[in-house]
Amino acid sequence: MKIALIAAASENNVIGKNNKLVWDLPTDFSYYKETVRYKPIVMGRKTAESPDFFFSEKRNIVVTRQADYERKGLEVCNSLSDAFELLKAEPLVFVTGGSQIYKQALPFADYIYLTRVHGYFDGDAYFPEFNEDEWKIVKEDFRTSDEHNSHDFTFFVYEKL
Ligand SMILES: NC(=O)c1ccc[n+]([C@@H]2O[C@H](COP(=O)([O-])OP(=O)(O)OC[C@H]3O[C@@H](n4cnc5c(N)ncnc54)[C@H](OP(=O)(O)O)[C@@H]3O)[C@@H](O)[C@H]2O)c1
Repeated sequence: MKIALIAAASENNVIGKNNKLVWDLPTDFSYYKETVRYKPIVMGRKTAESPDFFFSEKRNIVVTRQADYERKGLEVCNSLSDAFELLKAEPLVFVTGGSQIYKQALPFADYIYLTRVHGYFDGDAYFPEFNEDEWKIVKEDFRTSDEHNSHDFTFFVYEKL
């Protein structure tokens, strides 16, 4: 099983505020949906309750410490390791956030699909720092802001060396 983190983060690593995204980037949201649509995804409970939440058509795993948590369409695990164990037969699993889950999953990640949003934002949730020397950039695709997308951004895919 390979593990990929997928996130959009500003230059100062903000990924959200008040459990929502802090930009309007429909091109990135479409890219995110197309990337994970047919893949199993793992997310934290807060991300699952965010208005920006998107269901995969494959499997949707939510991680929570609550023993009796239920949410329609989601499989529930009480730890990240339980989630990975549940999905161990899957070739590729996407971790879709948020901050707590990215941080815990980063040491196990083989890929990071990171949309770098070229701006500085105020937020309360952050993508974890990672050492770029330990990763190879296998995709880099810069997009300018336009009438639909509020900021310039770059699609990166990093592969662990
Ligand atoms: N820009 C992006 O790409 C992106 C993507 C996703 C999310 N976000 C943003 O990220 C923010 C949410 O991130 P967050 O860090 O606050 O929350 P989160 O990581 O989505 O969820 C945190 C919750 O996950 C559960 N959890 C965490 N570690 C666990 C463990 N080891 N075992 C069992 N359960 C565990 C806990 O749920 P319980 O409290 O239920 O126990 C915890 O409260 C929002 O602002 C959202 O918009 C941004």
